[in-house]
Amino acid sequence: MKKVRKAVFPVGGLGTRFLPATKAMPKEMLPVVDKPLIQYAVDEAREAGIEQMIFVTGRGKSAIEDHFDISYELETTLSERGKSLDAIEGTRFAPGEIIYVRQQDPIGLGHAIWCARHIVGDEPFAIFLPDELMVGSPGCMKQMVEAYDKVGGNIVCGYEVPETETHKYGIITPGKVDGPLVEVKALVEKPVQGTAPSNLMIPGRYILQPEVMRILETQARGAGNEIQLTDAMAQMIGTQPFHAYAFGGQRFDCGDKAGFITANISLALERPDMAPTIREYLKGV
Ligand code: UTP
Repeated sequence: MKKVRKAVFPVGGLGTRFLPATKAMPKEMLPVVDKPLIQYAVDEAREAGIEQMIFVTGRGKSAIEDHFDISYELETTLSERGKSLDAIEGTRFAPGEIIYVRQQDPIGLGHAIWCARHIVGDEPFAIFLPDELMVGSPGCMKQMVEAYDKVGGNIVCGYEVPETETHKYGIITPGKVDGPLVEVKALVEKPVQGTAPSNLMIPGRYILQPEVMRILETQARGAGNEIQLTDAMAQMIGTQPFHAYAFGGQRFDCGDKAGFITANISLALERPDMAPTIREYLKGV
């Protein structure tokens, strides 16, 4: 069984729900406390043993490339002033560890993933949607990779949501359950309230086999007139092992304004340097 060495980060979307903030700045660079969303995802990937990060970018996304590059001016100035470089730890990569591919036309997540097909090649790969912030110890992808090393095939993250919310998400039809691993029988997109086959939704973490690229090659547009990753994954069920890994940590949907603010408050309350001030303020309001 091949190891999961590569990860795709689709960052080519327009981030329309966050306008005007995202007019000239990538949504993936929005900070939660003091770190951009994309760096949380990259840190999670490194922890999981990913060796090569493939970013699917688009126009107006160059701030992401700069973030993971050397900033000579900044480093020289910090050093001259005797300040630590710790704050930019984790933003440097050896040449070739990060690769950028351009998605010229943002016509859906499935299409964004397909843009990375030649770099992914013939091996399993991880996908991170950076606007979904997954908080856990060990991290979400590390847990998924450990599960993958036992069962192989395809593994999507599964996250429990209240029954009243299942109609907003892609939901798993479960088969056999073995601890956190749940066999996936089908995927149902936004089921009508009261009809959901489970309360396990799929947040933005996946480990997929390269065959999905072949399916995406001819995938027609689906919901929202976009090429959907879910439609391609659904076709793999039954032909290859397909599991969900029930993640027990926290999930914040930072592509949504309320989720983004919640993430900032929650992570700020974990930081000893600022928690007392924030807690005091929250009590007041
Ligand atoms: P979203 O649907 O949350 O992102 O896609 P969006 O389209 O940028 O946001 P809204 O809905 O307009 O506010 C999840 C991830 O997939 C990427 C996005 O950049 C985001 O990281 N994506 C989406 C692409 O790379 N290409 C696409 O065509 C669509």
